[in-house]
Amino acid sequence: MADIITTDGVDSHPDWSHVPEHARHVFLCTGPRCTQRGALQLWKTLRRHLLAHDRIETPGGVLLTRTHCQFPCNLGPVMTVYPETCWYGVRSHADAQRLVEVHLVGGEVVEDLLIKERS
Ligand code: FES
Repeated sequence: MADIITTDGVDSHPDWSHVPEHARHVFLCTGPRCTQRGALQLWKTLRRHLLAHDRIETPGGVLLTRTHCQFPCNLGPVMTVYPETCWYGVRSHADAQRLVEVHLVGGEVVEDLLIKERS
């Protein structure tokens, strides 16, 4: 059986050996159903507001990552935030902006956007 792990021909850059600074890791679903519901546009809104608050990959900031399906598709677009383990349904640009300002900058959970009760 052929070995499928290789570094031959893989692009490399020194920055790609660096773990970005961050206090929270945010995962926005860009799976097929969340994308149909506008997740890619919400991604731009999240990123723009995080940059405006200097919260992208900074100490105390956010590592914003796109994912495939996180499973509760009917409640999406889905965004999860760690270390707080918050599952949010983001239904509008206003929701995205509020999540940045209240949770990702202000540190407070946005209870009315949660799609899963926190334990
Ligand atoms: S496509 Fe986003 S949760 Fe399934």
